[in-house]
Amino acid sequence: MIDRHVIEDARPYVSDFFAGDASGHDAWHTMRVYNLAVRLAREEGAREDVVALAALLHDVDDAKLSPDTAEDLGNARAFMCQHEVVDDDAQAVLSAIREVSFSKNRGTDPTSRESACVRDADRLDAIGAIGVARAFAYGGSHGRALHDPTNADATTTIQHFYDKLLLLEDMMATDAGRRVAHRRDAYLRGFLEEFLAEWDGER
Ligand code: ADP
Ligand code: NI
Repeated sequence: MIDRHVIEDARPYVSDFFAGDASGHDAWHTMRVYNLAVRLAREEGAREDVVALAALLHDVDDAKLSPDTAEDLGNARAFMCQHEVVDDDAQAVLSAIREVSFSKNRGTDPTSRESACVRDADRLDAIGAIGVARAFAYGGSHGRALHDPTNADATTTIQHFYDKLLLLEDMMATDAGRRVAHRRDAYLRGFLEEFLAEWDGER
């Protein structure tokens, strides 16, 4: 069992870690993933302590933010070492963190229920109303166009819906995640339909 205090200490640690970042990997993203992952863990009967700590630490070794520790998850390791998390628990957390990444784990299934909950929660934060907001925030910060009806510009934010966001519902690893994804995916599709109709001046 991972001590409650370790999880409580991880919150201010991640807030400090992400202070000032605007890439969509902010501390609030982590907090949303944490809250949702713990809810999924309860519904799935996964270990809440492992899921909670993995969710809180899942982005502290992201290659975009911490390239030097991305390979060995050095920040997550150091945090757990300082907090004397026992080895088996630390390994379970590290493996869940490794299995979150969308790009690195394409097509592979999570190896534990805990990994599945954290991964689903992270992906769920990219869809629904929050997902729409994050996508346009990302596009804006990268100077991208909203949409290009000629499809000549493949980097628009609307294109990202087709490339990634609309595929996420089918990639859920847990039943609890699938239920949440179902609602969020419907919201995404409704948004797209409305957006494209407004684009053409139909609504
Ligand atoms: P992760 O590493 O968790 O998969 P990403 O860095 O790929 O996250 O994405 C972070 C957020 O930015 C997500 O909400 C994602 O949908 C959004 N995002 C990533 N790439 C794009 C893009 N090309 N256009 C719009 N949004 C994007
Ligand atoms: Ni994330």
